[in-house]
Amino acid sequence: MPTVTIQPSGEEIYLAPGETVLAGLYKAGFAYTVGCRRGGCGICKIDVTDGDFTYNRPVAESVVSEEERTDGTCLSCRAVPESDITIEMRDGSLRLINPLLRQINDSARARALASSTAKE
Ligand code: FES
Repeated sequence: MPTVTIQPSGEEIYLAPGETVLAGLYKAGFAYTVGCRRGGCGICKIDVTDGDFTYNRPVAESVVSEEERTDGTCLSCRAVPESDITIEMRDGSLRLINPLLRQINDSARARALASSTAKE
């Protein structure tokens, strides 16, 4: 279960395997400025400062340049973490719009951790 740590707050979000960063943040009650949600506009770019991710679909170079692919730029609507990652939002628009969803996210993580511990 990959973890997304949001800096500078240090908030941790838990994603289901294969889930995009955008989907995970919204599922955990957060919202921020996005556009097409399909990898076509680039509005959802964030910076990944630690960890690895891949794209669940091809992303055009006109949206994410070769230089951006190596500097930590991440198209959050298409990015799927391959490990725990740390992110920074670019425009400060991230806001918690549904605290209840965050609590549900925390509970889901606790259940997943308990389940994995029981299997060991
Ligand atoms: S929202 Fe358009 S590329 Fe992500």
